Amino acid sequence: ASYDMGGHDTYMHKEIFEQADAVDRVLRGRIDDRFSTVHLGGLNLDAREARQIRRVKILGCGTSYHAGMIGAQMIEELARIPADAEPASEFRYRNAVVDPDTLYIAVSQSGETYDVLAAVQELKRKGARVLGVVNVVGSAIAREADGGMYVHAGPEVCVVSTKCFTNTTVAFALLALHLGRTRDLSVRDGKRIIEGLRKLPAQISEILDQEEEIKKLAAEYAEAHSMLFIGRVRGYPVAREASLKLKEVSYIHAEAYPASELKHGPLALIEPALPTVAIVPNDDLLEKNRAALEEIKARSGRILAVAHQHQEKADQTIVVPKNEDELDPILMGIPLQLLAYHTALALGRDIDKPRNLAKSVTVE
Ligand code: AGP
Repeated sequence: ASYDMGGHDTYMHKEIFEQADAVDRVLRGRIDDRFSTVHLGGLNLDAREARQIRRVKILGCGTSYHAGMIGAQMIEELARIPADAEPASEFRYRNAVVDPDTLYIAVSQSGETYDVLAAVQELKRKGARVLGVVNVVGSAIAREADGGMYVHAGPEVCVVSTKCFTNTTVAFALLALHLGRTRDLSVRDGKRIIEGLRKLPAQISEILDQEEEIKKLAAEYAEAHSMLFIGRVRGYPVAREASLKLKEVSYIHAEAYPASELKHGPLALIEPALPTVAIVPNDDLLEKNRAALEEIKARSGRILAVAHQHQEKADQTIVVPKNEDELDPILMGIPLQLLAYHTALALGRDIDKPRNLAKSVTVE
């Protein structure tokens, strides 16, 4: 497929800068202010069925799996349904117990990823209810699922997913709000989340306005041989995704770890040559995260923080706008897409077609 580049040099750059509009699209027509909820007609799940769900299991690969990790946390937080995400590629090989009270959700940009499709087919054969959270309309996974929602990111050409990741996390916020409002999420909390969702497009633009500063940081980090990404609870999937972005497009080795696990091993790696990128939201874990930064600083590690306010222990901070705690993960990875992009550019990489990768892996 070939689409207009709109003045951008790469699709990755174009797609990063389309995110405010893309998020606007996934929200459009779905918010119901009267009942502080959202309408998701394609789910094919009425309120009584929604209330009977005992667990949620989210399946996807790569970036879609990371979006699913964020989605699982949102569903637990807003709907109080136990939820987790697993790579579809693992799930389909382990003869998992398929439970009739679990809602399965398959996540995929292309809707054609074979590992995800095979997991969906296996689940359906065993009588499970499967929803799709998919970007490409009419794709194999969308057709195979019992219902679901489109993420409306628009065509994504770059092999490295950016805008679809963001839109998928917003789609999960909508789903979590919807499920929450069929259960115990109050009208007030529903309103609070809706207000937060409406702020996202303008906040994304604010982040993208920082491109020049991020580009300068990238020139520095392009010299690294390896980087560590850390985050805790809501910040952890953000760290995972940022680490994958950097690896895919710059070929710099990167590893993501929960900040809470540092002392259980990876602290041994810390030295000036291994920079750490830390996700530090202003939520109830702020002090815990600051303590992790101190641990790293005490061992002469270099730190780049992505935070809602300047972090003293970090060498540099990228400040992102604050949203509702539950929605912060949607925004915090966006500056790191730009960091990965500019790092790869500085290294002269083939940004839209990284070596060894395909846009969708449709074979076994
Ligand atoms: C994204 O940057 C990757 N290239 C890759 O991990 C991708 O997310 C994965 O292959 C899943 O693709 P899908 O969303 O189309 O199913």
